[in-house]
This record gives sequence, structure tokens and C-alpha cells, in this order.
Amino acid sequence: MKDVLDLYRFVRKAIKKVITNNVSMTRKSLTARILKTFAFTALLTVTFMTAFSQEIPTDEANISEGKTLFNANCKTCHSVQNKLVGPALKDVYDRAPSVEWIISFVKNSQKVIKGGDEYAVALYKEYNNTEMTPFDSFSDEEILDILAYIKNETDNPEVVAEAVSETSEDAQADSAIPSTYLNAIVIGLIIVLALIFVVLVLITTVLTKYVNNKDLDKEDKEFVNQSFSIGATLSSKPFIFLVVFLFSAIMFKVVINGLFSIGIQKNYQPTQPIAFSHQIHAGQYEIDCNYCHTGVMKSKNANIPSPNICMNCHSSITKGTNTGETEISKIYDAIENNKPIEWVRIHNLPDLSYFNHSQHVNVGGVECQTCHGPIEEMDVVKQHSMLTMGWCVDCHRNTELNTKDNKYYDKLVELHKEDSDKALTVEDNGGLECAKCHY
Ligand code: HEC
Ligand code: HEC
Ligand code: HEC
Ligand code: HEC
Ligand code: HEC
Ligand code: HEC
Repeated sequence: MKDVLDLYRFVRKAIKKVITNNVSMTRKSLTARILKTFAFTALLTVTFMTAFSQEIPTDEANISEGKTLFNANCKTCHSVQNKLVGPALKDVYDRAPSVEWIISFVKNSQKVIKGGDEYAVALYKEYNNTEMTPFDSFSDEEILDILAYIKNETDNPEVVAEAVSETSEDAQADSAIPSTYLNAIVIGLIIVLALIFVVLVLITTVLTKYVNNKDLDKEDKEFVNQSFSIGATLSSKPFIFLVVFLFSAIMFKVVINGLFSIGIQKNYQPTQPIAFSHQIHAGQYEIDCNYCHTGVMKSKNANIPSPNICMNCHSSITKGTNTGETEISKIYDAIENNKPIEWVRIHNLPDLSYFNHSQHVNVGGVECQTCHGPIEEMDVVKQHSMLTMGWCVDCHRNTELNTKDNKYYDKLVELHKEDSDKALTVEDNGGLECAKCHY
């Protein structure tokens, strides 16, 4: 600054001198002064730029650090590819004013908006004045790591959907094979039976003809040539016995099937009061199961989310792609009338049994999908497993205990190693004791 003022004074003096014809100053010294000032300003700009403009890192380490930070702090409101509560973050470094702007916005967006920044104010308005959580405690490096992750996701979007649909088709093909076999076997049997029947009819006609040519007394002749009477057959004892036997066998099977399926509701898929889709929320937008089923890691029950949790997002998302405003507005009705949404319960164990989610998900490390199936592909949830005692017990027999990083199991693991070389299963830990599952 001082140099610029100096130059200005110097030039003014020079002009004065020229005007007053007192040209004692040489042209050389003027050029030198101008050059010096120019060099100084250039230097100043360069230091300013290097001090404040920051590069998005591209290292694997930064990207994975950024991914962790993003999932823990931003994922509830942002996705890289899709608009959620906040904008899709892909290319954000290209559309936002600068990387520095992003850093200060993430640290405290309200400060930037209140400061009157044009881009920030417009964005805030576009998102119905939704306030983004401030992240004051983040360092610049951490935010740059998040940007590194976003950039990586933008450039290499994951292709997961295809693999998933392929495996589910495989599964369908697997279950289709036995039923086609069964049909083929039945049809084959029917053909064989028909052939045997035809052969039998041929044999009897030939035999009748042969016997008729012999000398027979009257009684024998009558017997050989007796006509086949439908009425007589229907009222014959063997026939009645056969019918009664078949009928009771079928009834028996139906009743047994019915008895065995009491309380078993595999594939139960009721219509819900709001057309809530896991395929959209958990699949397409990858919202964590925990975000809504808040109890799953720490308590017996997984919990169904209250309308307030829906409102975290639906205060700003008022329209759905498939159902427009009709379904989402039911959330607002529930909030306004202070009435809970009456979700229909799908999974339900009888009261005599005890099941705990955190024990399985948190301690045991069992995936939701192992028991509930591919929920993230279901538009409407349906019960995937039998939920019978046999189902629980089977898994306890076959599943290894998750003993990693769990001091509680150290001693048990040692003891088990001493007298067995098989893996330590839930069964070995008393997972088949009646009292563990029954009150
Ligand atoms: C509570 C929800 C919420 C959370 C959590 C959140 N954001 Fe945001 N974010 C928003 C909203 C809403 C906007 C749109 C601007 C506004 O309304 O303030 C936004 C805007 C942004 C923008 C500007 C986007 C653009 O198009 O220019 C960036 C960058 C951003 N967020 C990054 C982050 C990062 C990084 C995190 C995690 C550390 C994060 N946000 C966490 C809600 C959130
Ligand atoms: C945005 C919130 C949200 C997310 C995310 C979410 N769910 Fe749900 N979930 C619900 C709601 C609401 C219901 C009740 C309505 C229904 O059955 O569709 C429900 C129902 C269920 C049920 C059936 C409960 C019953 O009645 O027996 C299961 C099982 C389930 N969710 C598992 C999951 C799994 C696994 C994930 C993660 C892959 C997940 N959910 C993610 C909101 C969510
Ligand atoms: C973390 C954010 C988030 C939460 C929490 C959330 N949703 Fe959504 N919801 C979305 C997004 C994103 C969409 C997709 C909007 C679109 O189609 O453009 C959506 C769409 C919907 C739709 C419309 C689907 C369609 O395509 O028509 C319904 C209905 C819905 N949500 C119900 C719920 C209910 C009920 C809850 C609470 C149990 C809930 N949502 C919680 C983000 C959320
Ligand atoms: C070991 C099997 C198993 C695993 C793993 C599991 N669940 Fe469940 N889930 C069940 C059973 C069994 C019920 C029925 C519980 C009852 O009726 O008491 C159930 C019920 C539910 C319900 C209905 C409401 C409730 O709390 O009873 C929801 C929601 C649910 N599970 C979500 C989840 C989510 C989300 C995960 C993963 C984080 C998960 N479950 C993992 C077996 C499992
Ligand atoms: C997919 C496999 C799987 C299924 C299905 C399953 N469990 Fe488990 N269960 C486990 C695992 C793994 C553990 C061990 C968790 C741990 O490390 O403590 C466990 C532990 C338990 C425990 C604690 C046992 C102990 O020794 O402390 C109880 C109780 C239990 N399960 C009940 C049930 C009931 C009831 C059902 C059926 C409704 C069921 N489980 C279905 C895998 C399963
Ligand atoms: C891993 C958990 C688990 C263990 C261990 C277990 N049960 Fe069960 N049991 C269940 C569940 C879940 C049900 C309810 C589901 C059903 O009706 O099939 C049940 C149902 C029952 C029923 C009701 C009859 C029926 O089929 O509805 C009886 C009786 C029973 N158990 C006895 C026992 C006895 C005795 C033992 C010990 C030898 C035992 N259970 C061990 C989980 C368990």
C-alpha cells in the first residue's frame, strides 16, 4: 500500500516537474519505480493466493478419511448423487464460489448467509430456509478430506445395483428348479399309468376272445362275458374304500399344514397407512437403518420411527416422484392432529419368547438382511423368515460367535480351544438353553 502511495506521489511530483519544465529526473528512474511496485503487487497476490486457495487432495488416505467423516456427519442430509435435505454434493467445488467458501460454509453456514453472500442466500432460500448444522470443530483439512471423498464419488460412481439384482435372480432360479422337476415327474407318471391301462385293456380283450373259443359251461361263460357296469363299480366296496381313504388323506394333510403354520406368517405383507418405501429410502437414498430404527444397536426393540423423524427431511421434501403430495401429506396430518401413524406390525413373536436386537446386531454382528431379507429392495416390507423356534435354534447351532475385540469372550475362547477344534458357535455359549429365549 505504502509503495503504491509513494509511486502516486512520485508521479505527481514528476508531472509537476515536467509542467514546470524542471526535468531533472531521468526516465530510467521512473521505469524502475513502476517495475518495483508491479513486482511487489504480484508477489503480494501470489502469497495471498497460496495462503487462501486450497487444493482438494486425491490421496486414498484422504478419501477414506473423508468418507468416514461424510457418513458420520453429512449423510443424513446429503448424498453425493441425489438431492436429499440438502443439495446433491457432486461437483459442488465447481459450482460454489470457491473451495474457501465451502470451508467457511460448512463451518458455519448461517454466518455466511447472514453476511449477505449472494450465492449462500439464494441457496438457503431454494432449500426453504433449512439450516445446515454448523461444524465449527472441523479443521480445514477435514473438510478438504470430505471434498476429496465427494470428488472421488463424483468421478467414480459406484455400480452396486446390478450385482444385487443379479444375485436375487439367481436365488429365484434356484427355487424354481425343484418345482419344474416335480411337474415333469408327475406328468411322466401319468403317461406310464395310461400306457399300463391300455396294455391291460388289450390283454383282457385277447384273453376273452381266447377263452370264448374254448368249451366252457354256462356259468363260466357268463363270468367271462359279464358286461362292465359303472353303477356296480361305484357301489363296490373296494371303490368306496379307495375314495374314503384318499379324502381323509388329503384332509389330514391340510389340517397338519394348517396346524404347523399357526402363528407363522412368512411373506406376510400388509398394506401400510402411508406408502412408505424402503426401496426409496434405504435403497436409492442409502439412509442408514439406524437413522430411523433408533433402538436397533442398543435395545431389545428396533423401534418404528415417529413422524418427527420423518419431518427431519420431509419438512423440506414435500413431493415424491411416484406419489406426489398425497402420501407425504399424511405425515403432516399426523403431526398437526398429534396422532401417531398407525403402522401395521409385520414381525411379531409370541409373548412367550424373548428376542433382543442389540444382542444380535451389535454384539453378534448379524446383518439386518440375514433375518429380514433385502429390505432395501422392498417397496412394501414383507416378512422374510419363518420366525419359528426351529429357525432361531438352527442359526444358533450353525453361527460362530463374534468374539473379535470382545474381552467378555476371551476366557471362553481359550477354554473352548482346549477341548475342541471346531469353531465356537452360539450353541457353545448356551444359545440353545430354553431359559435364554423363554421367560
Ligand atoms: C441438517 C442437515 C444437514 C447436514 C447434517 C449437513 N448439511 Fe450441508 N446443507 C444442508 C442444506 C439444507 C443445504 C442448503 C443450504 C441451506 O439451506 O443452508 C446445505 C448446503 C451444503 C453445501 C452447499 C451446496 C451447494 O450446492 O453449494 C455444502 C458444500 C454442504 N452443505 C456440505 C455439507 C457437509 C460437508 C456436511 C457434513 C460435514 C453437511 N453439509 C451436513 C443441510 C445439511
Ligand atoms: C426413513 C426411515 C427408515 C429407514 C432408513 C429404514 N426404515 Fe425400516 N421401517 C420404517 C418405517 C416407517 C416402517 C414401518 C412401515 C413399514 O413396514 O413399511 C419400517 C418397517 C421396517 C420393518 C418391519 C417392521 C415390522 O412391522 O415388523 C423392518 C424389518 C425394517 N423396517 C427394517 C429396516 C432395515 C433393515 C433398514 C435398513 C436397510 C431400514 N428398515 C431402514 C422406516 C425406515
Ligand atoms: C433422511 C431423509 C428422509 C427421512 C428421514 C424420511 N424420508 Fe421420505 N423421502 C426422502 C427422500 C429423499 C424422498 C424422495 C423424494 C423424491 O421422490 O424426489 C422421500 C420420499 C418419500 C415418499 C414419497 C415416495 C414417492 O416416490 O412418491 C414418502 C411417502 C415418504 N418419503 C415417507 C416418509 C416417511 C413416512 C418417513 C418417516 C418414517 C420418511 N419418509 C422419512 C427422504 C427422507
Ligand atoms: C437375528 C435375526 C434378526 C436380525 C439380525 C435383525 N432382526 Fe429385526 N426382528 C427380528 C425378529 C425376530 C423380530 C420380531 C421381534 C418381536 O416380535 O419381538 C424383529 C423385528 C424388527 C422390527 C419390528 C419392530 C420391533 O422392534 O420389534 C424392526 C423395525 C426390525 N426388526 C428392524 C431391524 C433392523 C433395522 C435390523 C438391522 C440393524 C434388524 N432388525 C436385525 C430378527 C432380527
Ligand atoms: C442369523 C442367525 C441368528 C438367528 C436367526 C437368531 N439368532 Fe440369536 N444369536 C445369534 C448370534 C450370532 C448370537 C450371539 C451374540 C453374542 O455374541 O452374544 C445370538 C444370541 C442370542 C441370545 C443370547 C444367547 C446368550 O448365550 O447369551 C438369545 C437369547 C437369542 N440369540 C435369541 C434368539 C431368538 C429368540 C431367535 C429367534 C426369534 C434368534 N436368536 C435367532 C444368531 C442368531
Ligand atoms: C434360540 C431361542 C430358543 C430356544 C433356545 C428355545 N426356544 Fe422355544 N421358542 C422360541 C421361539 C422364538 C418360539 C415361538 C415361535 C414359534 O411358535 O415357533 C418358541 C416356542 C416354544 C414353545 C411353544 C410351542 C410352539 O411351537 O408355539 C414351546 C413349548 C417351547 N418353545 C419350548 C422350548 C423348550 C422346552 C426349550 C428348551 C429345550 C426351548 N423352547 C428353547 C425360541 C427358543
